[in-house]
Amino acid sequence: MKLPDTLPTHIAVIMDGNGRWARRRGLPRKAGHAAGSENFRSIATFCRDIGIPYLTVYALSTENRASRPAEEVEEVYDLLRRYIGESLETMERDRVKLKFLGSLDSLPEDVRELIARAEEVSARYEGCQCNICVNYGGRDEIVRAACKLMRLSSGTITQDVTEDIFSRHLDTAFLPDPDLCIRTGGDSRLSNFLPWQLAYAELVFTKTLWPDFSKKELVSIMRDFSKRNRRYGGL
Ligand code: IPE
Ligand code: IPE
Ligand code: MG
Repeated sequence: MKLPDTLPTHIAVIMDGNGRWARRRGLPRKAGHAAGSENFRSIATFCRDIGIPYLTVYALSTENRASRPAEEVEEVYDLLRRYIGESLETMERDRVKLKFLGSLDSLPEDVRELIARAEEVSARYEGCQCNICVNYGGRDEIVRAACKLMRLSSGTITQDVTEDIFSRHLDTAFLPDPDLCIRTGGDSRLSNFLPWQLAYAELVFTKTLWPDFSKKELVSIMRDFSKRNRRYGGL
C-alpha cells in the first residue's frame, strides 16, 4: 500500500456501525462490538507501524451510557476489560501508549483500576498514543473543564482565560487537535465527539461499518486528506 507523503499527526475516529454489522449477520449486537474491538486493535497497530503519532477513538458516549439498555453498556464494559487485559499482556511488544478520556469517575471500579494500570504501564512507550474515549461527551468535557478552572481559581478568575488555558483543562490537554476525523457507519454527524478539538479538522464520512473498516480504506482516506487545502480562515 502506497502511503501519501504527508500523514496526519492526529487521527480521530467515530467507530460507528457495530450493531448493524451484527444485525446483518443475524448476530447479537455484542458480537458487533466484539468485532469492532478487534478491528480497533488492528487499526491501532497499523497506525503505530506507519508512524501516526496520535489516534483518538470514540468507544462509548455519555449518551450511549444514558440511553442504551444497561445490558449493552455492561457488554461494552466487558469488552473494555478484555481489551485492556490483553493489552497489558502484550504491551511490552506493542509499545502503544494508552490513554482514556471521558467521565471516567462513573465507570465500574474494576474498569477504572484497569485503566489506571494500563495508563501507568504504557506511559513510557513512544509508539502511537491511542486515546480511547469512554463515557465521553464533548459538552460534558467542556463543562468539566470549566468546573476545573473555577475550582483552581476558587471561583474567582483573575487572569484572562485564553483558548490555550481553557484547552489545557480539557481531557485532551497537551494533545494536538486532530487533523482528520473519520466516521464510519454512514451517518454524517459528530454525535458529541470532540466538538472543541475538531474545529478545523478535515472530516470524512464513510458508509463502511466499523468492523469492516480496513487499513486499505484508511490509506485511501489519508491520500485524500493529503490533497486537501487547509486554510484555517486564511486565503
Ligand atoms: C458504535 O456502534 C459503538 C457504540 C456506540 C458503543 P453502534 O452500537 O452505534 O452500532 P450501530 O450504529 O447501532 O450500527
Ligand atoms: C457515536 O455513535 C458514538 C460512538 C461511536 C461511540 P452513536 O451510534 O451513539 O451515534 P448516534 O446515536 O447515531 O448519533
Ligand atoms: Mg451507532
